[in-house]
Order: sequence, then structure tokens, then C-alpha cells
Amino acid sequence: MSKPEGRLSIAALSEVGRKESNSGLRTILLRYLNHNSRERLLDIGGGSGLLTETLADVFSQILVLEPNLGKLEYGAKHRPDVGFIRGSAQQVPVVEGKIGTVVSVAAFHHFPDQHGALEEMKRVLKPGGLLMLAEIDVSKTSGRILRFFENKIVHGGSHFLESPQLVEMVKGHGFSDIAIDRTSRGYVVVAKNNPT
Ligand SMILES: C[S@@+](CC[C@H](N)C(=O)[O-])C[C@H]1O[C@@H](n2cnc3c(N)ncnc32)[C@H](O)[C@@H]1O
Repeated sequence: MSKPEGRLSIAALSEVGRKESNSGLRTILLRYLNHNSRERLLDIGGGSGLLTETLADVFSQILVLEPNLGKLEYGAKHRPDVGFIRGSAQQVPVVEGKIGTVVSVAAFHHFPDQHGALEEMKRVLKPGGLLMLAEIDVSKTSGRILRFFENKIVHGGSHFLESPQLVEMVKGHGFSDIAIDRTSRGYVVVAKNNPT
């Protein structure tokens, strides 16, 4: 028997109510993009590609890296403009220096090795390429509720950082020109990949 169309799949449910916050993220990203960072976009932990797809007009190629098979299948079925790669932030299956912009939205707190993930982001980015990390703000009540829900009820193991901690971490991995923006869901750290 064939699988029912995934209207109520986890992948479909995870997209509900995201259009507004995604448009805010697009606006922030466009503000920081320079010529060098416009070529290829990699969205790490990009789920089913909802945000990624909205950036198809800006980049020559848009890619999602995602470990969850259900989200990959849903995205591949509904978003023909997006390239989907199965994998994780700890080991990005992309050749060094090939990506103009790396984004990661509400995913960094899931990464089991956050330092390793930043090293991988730096490795795949071109010199001068752009990094944008959007995270939940756990200094706010809404963020703390989400952290409780994720760590105590859903799966656990998530490691949320407040914005100054993430900025320090990004700086420590050799990124420069670091800026912070606020969104309806949290904060965004944007940084440039300096050649080492
Ligand atoms: C809250 S969802 C956000 C999805 C998407 N970025 C969005 O904004 O809709 C977090 C995503 O991170 C992915 N993820 C979890 N662990 C990961 C890892 N180690 N490497 C890459 N992605 C991961 C999950 O599968 C999930 O799709």
C-alpha cells in the first residue's frame, strides 16, 4: 500500500506558521550579502527547505543539508529548485571553499559538536563568504519554554546558547565582522569568513 500524502507529516507540520519569520530572516540576510557570498547557499539543518526555497532568486544554487529522511523526502517532492543532501553538520559532504553563504536556522542547538560544526562551516565557505546562524533566544521566557519542551519532553541533548556565547564561539573560529540582529523567534548572528 502506498504511503498517504504527507499533509499531516512531521515535515509538513514543522512548516506551519513559519512564513513570517522566514521573510524576516530573508530581509536580514539580504542586508549582509555581498557579491562574493551570492553564488551558492548551503542551509545546514535546513529541514524540508522552506526558507531555502525563498532564496532561489538570490543564489545560483540552493542546497539543504539535513539528517532527517522524512524532511528530505518531503522537501525533494515539493521543492524542485532546492538540492537536498543527507548528512550532518559534523561532517559536511561538500568540497572546501565551494559555498558563498552558509545559513543554519534553529538548528545549531541540535548539533552534538558545535565547535566541529563551525569548523566545517568555515571549511566549506569561500574566503569572504557569509555565515548566518539564527537561534532561539533562551534569555526570553518563550525561548526557555521551548528549551524545556525540547530537552525534557521531546528528545533532549539540545544545547542552547545565548547570543554573546555564540558570538564568542564564532569569533573563536576565525570569523570576523560579526553582527547580531533580533527576530520574532530569537536572534541572528552574521559573520564573514576571513581567509586564515
Ligand atoms: C527546528 S528544525 C529547523 C529546520 C529548518 N532550519 C527551519 O528553520 O525550519 C532543526 C533541524 O536541525 C536538524 N538537525 C538536527 N541535528 C542535526 C545535525 N547534527 N546536523 C544537521 N542538522 C541537524 C533537524 O533534523 C531539523 O531539521
